[in-house]
Amino acid sequence: MESASLKFREATVKAKPLPRHIGIIMDGNGRWAEGHGRPRLEGHREGSNSVREVTRCARRTGLEALTLYAFSSQNWQRPSLEVAGLMELLREYLLKERREILDNQIRLNAIGELKKLPEYVREPLEALREESAGNTGMTLTLALSYGGREELVRAMRAVAAKVEAGELVAESITNDDIERELWTTDLPPVDLIVRTSGENRVSNFLLWQGAYAEYVFTETLWPDFRAHELLDCIEQFQNRERRFGLTSAQLRAIP
Ligand code: FPP
Repeated sequence: MESASLKFREATVKAKPLPRHIGIIMDGNGRWAEGHGRPRLEGHREGSNSVREVTRCARRTGLEALTLYAFSSQNWQRPSLEVAGLMELLREYLLKERREILDNQIRLNAIGELKKLPEYVREPLEALREESAGNTGMTLTLALSYGGREELVRAMRAVAAKVEAGELVAESITNDDIERELWTTDLPPVDLIVRTSGENRVSNFLLWQGAYAEYVFTETLWPDFRAHELLDCIEQFQNRERRFGLTSAQLRAIP
């Protein structure tokens, strides 16, 4: 049960224009575990509790889309035991959260080089993706074996193939032609990207999509990042002026 103060804050945030799509770089699980004298995997486990809480809050608040960076293309290089532990945790999450995801009209989606995932993750992932495909409440996207550069290389290959086939003319390639080939093509524009744990880097996350996103970097470690912290970030977003290259005066003149 959420507290009265959380409900109040959610209502306040809802009263102002919301970001349509938030992306989160969930960082700091290892440091959280270290700080609590526990193995790294315990940090990831506590991090999956944050995933649950933040998703619930995002859904209640009325976001259209939430994208979570759960495993990067580069994370395969971590010690094999940690990689295996993370994969187990993902499988557990997909099985345990299934009911709640379906009951809350959430569409589960995934982006990344999904073929690289072990079968025991891919199978429940694909099953829940299919089962929730018709849900219209919020799209929860897990970025798994995801890299922004990898995504762009893939898109460029697809565009090049269209040029080769005579379907596109190189000189006429537009932003839309590239966006159509991104894994995020069916998602709303990313308005806000959050990174936890005090690191001020983008780390290969949503490189194209982040072009005009607002960024919030917070000191909070991911396992400590819960509903109130998400609302803090949304409030920061709501207090910013997004200019998209224009001046403040020009923006004020737009009806
Ligand atoms: C970064 O922390 C986090 C990850 C590489 C994995 C994120 C995974 C989860 C939050 C849990 C599972 C996800 C789902 C969707 C159930 P880090 O290990 O780099 O932390 P550190 O920088 O403190 O070492």
